[in-house]
Amino acid sequence: MSTSLTLPRPDDWHLHLRDGAMLAGIAPESARHFARAIIMPNLVPPVVTGAEAAAYRERIRAVTGPGFTPLMTLYLTEGTDPADVVAAHAAGIITAVKLYPAGATTNSASGVRDIDRVRGVLEAMAEAGIPLLTHGEVTDPEVDIFDREAVFIDRVLDPLRRALPALRVVMEHITTADAVDYARSAPERLGATITTHHLVINRNHMLAGGIRPHYYCLPVAKRERHRAALVAAAISGDARFFLGTDSAPHADDAKLAACGCAGCFTATNTLSVLAQVFEAAGALDRLEGFVSRHGAGFYGLPVNTDTITLERRDTPISYPAKIETGAGPVTVFDPGFPLHWQVAPAA
Ligand code: NCD
Ligand code: ZN
Repeated sequence: MSTSLTLPRPDDWHLHLRDGAMLAGIAPESARHFARAIIMPNLVPPVVTGAEAAAYRERIRAVTGPGFTPLMTLYLTEGTDPADVVAAHAAGIITAVKLYPAGATTNSASGVRDIDRVRGVLEAMAEAGIPLLTHGEVTDPEVDIFDREAVFIDRVLDPLRRALPALRVVMEHITTADAVDYARSAPERLGATITTHHLVINRNHMLAGGIRPHYYCLPVAKRERHRAALVAAAISGDARFFLGTDSAPHADDAKLAACGCAGCFTATNTLSVLAQVFEAAGALDRLEGFVSRHGAGFYGLPVNTDTITLERRDTPISYPAKIETGAGPVTVFDPGFPLHWQVAPAA
C-alpha cells in the first residue's frame, strides 16, 4: 500500500469564503492546500457586478496573500447586464456566473425566478464561452426536497441546454444518481462538481439516531444508493467530474438553531477525507484527476506546476474540531471515521 502520494496542487471548483471576520478566519484553511478556487458570490448583498467581484477579489487576496488565486463569479439576477458580464470576463475579473433559483439556498433571495428573463445574459455567455454554474434545485414548494435536484434537470437544465447547446454548464454539488447519469450522457461542455461531504454522508447520517445539524447542507444528502453513485463517478476517471468542496462555513450558533443554516465546512480536512474515500474504494490513483486535473481541464486552465504530498500515518491524524473566527467558532466536518492521510507541510 502506498504511504505517500504527491499530486499537482489541487483546486477547489466551488467554495464559499464569505466576507469580513469570517473570511479572515476561514480563508487560510483553503489557501493552505489549494492553489485556486471558484469563489461563490452569495454574500449579503450578493456579488452581482464586475466591479463588486473585483473589490471582493481584493478583500480575499488581502487575507490569503499571493499564493492562492480566487477565481471570481457573478451572482445572476434578473437585472444582470449582459455587457457587464462579458466585460468582466474579458478583463479577467470573473471566471463564471452562478445561477441560484430564487429561494433555493443560503442568501439566494436575489436569484432567478424566471429563466426566460436571463435569456439575453445566457446567450451572451454562450457566445463568449463563459460557464454557467447551476445550483440545480427547483424551489417549487410542491416538490419534495429530496426530489428537487432530479426535477431541476428535467424542468430547467435539460430545456436550457437544448435551447443553448453552446453554453458551458457546471452542475454544482451533484447529489443524485440522476445527476451522475445526466452528466455522463452529455458532451464535455457539461461538467459536474462533487463535494467531499456528499461522498461520505447519506441522509441517515444526518437524521437517524438524532438530528445532526452539521450534516445539513443543500442540496440535502440523499439515500445511500445516491452516495454510492457519486463515489463511482468521482473515482471513475471521467474528466466531467471534479472536486468542488462547497465548503460553506456558518458560525455554530447559526447551525445549532431552531432553523439552522445549510452548509458543511470541509476546507480544513477535505484532502485527508478524500484520500481516505479514494483509498477505501481502491482508487487512490484516481484522486489526482479528481482534485488536480479535471477541473482545470474544464475551465481551460493549466494544471498547477507545484505539488502537495499526502502521507499515510498508522495512527489517526489530528485536526481541529473547530476553527475560531472573529464571527464565532465554525465546526469542521466530522467524516465519522478516523483519518490517516496527512497533507505534508510545505517544504
Ligand atoms: C451554501 C451556503 O451556506 O452559502 N450552503 C450549502 O448548504 N451548500 C449555499 C449553497 O451552495 O447552496
Ligand atoms: Zn455552494
